[in-house]
Amino acid sequence: MTQLPTPDQNWQTDTLDLSLDYGEQTIAVRAGHHRTDENEHNEAIFTTSSYVYQNAQDAFNHFNGTVQGNVYSRHTNPTLRTFERRLSALEGGERAVATASGMGAILTMCLAFLQQGDHVVVAKQIFGSTMGLLNNYMGKFGIAVTYVDCTDKQAWTNAIQANTKLLFCESPSNPLGQICDIRYLAKLAHENNALLVVDNCFATPAIQKPLSLGADIVIHSATKYLDGQGRVLGGALVGSNELMEKAFAVVRSCGVSMSPFNAWVFIKGLETLNLRMQAHCANANKIAQWLNNHKKVAKVHFSGLADHSAYELAKSQSYKMDCFGAVLGFEVIADNANSEQVRQNAWKVIDNTQMISISNNLGDAKTIITHPATTTHYRMGEQARIEAGVTESLLRLSVGLEDVEDIIKDLERGLTKL
Ligand SMILES: Cc1ncc(COP(=O)(O)O)c(C=O)c1O
Repeated sequence: MTQLPTPDQNWQTDTLDLSLDYGEQTIAVRAGHHRTDENEHNEAIFTTSSYVYQNAQDAFNHFNGTVQGNVYSRHTNPTLRTFERRLSALEGGERAVATASGMGAILTMCLAFLQQGDHVVVAKQIFGSTMGLLNNYMGKFGIAVTYVDCTDKQAWTNAIQANTKLLFCESPSNPLGQICDIRYLAKLAHENNALLVVDNCFATPAIQKPLSLGADIVIHSATKYLDGQGRVLGGALVGSNELMEKAFAVVRSCGVSMSPFNAWVFIKGLETLNLRMQAHCANANKIAQWLNNHKKVAKVHFSGLADHSAYELAKSQSYKMDCFGAVLGFEVIADNANSEQVRQNAWKVIDNTQMISISNNLGDAKTIITHPATTTHYRMGEQARIEAGVTESLLRLSVGLEDVEDIIKDLERGLTKL
């Protein structure tokens, strides 16, 4: 029988005993914290690249796997461990693996779970760089991709091939907030011996827990709401111990590790994630209603609107019923205009706001406006943009935490110029 490694004392002594069934907010504030002999109250930042051993035998034990403990910060670090344990507890996973960025997490997923000759089915409505990674790099290593409309269940089913190993989607999607039926996709994946991976960046575990809906792996760009204040880059994967061991092996060998300082920022971000998301969502619900009644707005893309085709599905996948995320898309009016005029109209709205930040990030306390067709989704090319519904008239709003009346007034400054 294989001898299980003996964990270092430090690896066992988290201050919150999760077996005691704590509530969501307690987990967000306390899970994963390991207090050192200094008795610090706040989580410490371990800025160390390496670790020392009791003696030569202890060093050997750490390397031969009989003792589980820190060896090198590309592999493990106590600050990252706190972040990973806290995020994993919030997502309802067995383990999380932190990465240097959200793209680092998606690359890790590809390297851990795919090999030459495999096929993946991916939603058309995904972040541009994810598409770039799959097309430009995974293609080079013999991995084939079929893109499908994320809301079209039959298209997902039809796209499955004998060598399909993975289904990948974002829900809500970027930038149109489309909703995938996660339960359906999980069943489809499992019937075909494939994994379902959900990028939960837009919802976060404060709103949606894809693992509880049947997904195998959750991906995060922690850069967004997990930090929530636009300070640092990071990413993570969450899932079962078995799957995360494979992801961890990639991070350790390939070096897409998160920095301890960034992990500490995310630890602090997670403490307020639930509270922030409720405030983000309350603002977003009001702004979506307001935009929906605005005569200069042709269409609002937001699943929190009761007449949205995915309203019921979004509600059924949501952990908090009135939260539909806080990123919304809206198309400005463009009657009889050619594509250049349409773009100029959208830009005019952006350029006439005063307070809202013109930026390409999202998930920040500060409200951000983006023209996806010429920024985040520019490099994916016109055809892919059309298929993803990213038109020249579309603006994306990442609704922040300012007074909602001020955000509305600022949008009005822009829309009134049309
Ligand atoms: C849905 C989604 N996934 C992944 C990423 C990539 O994350 P990062 O920028 O942290 O690499 C982004 C970035 O915008 C995103 O929007």
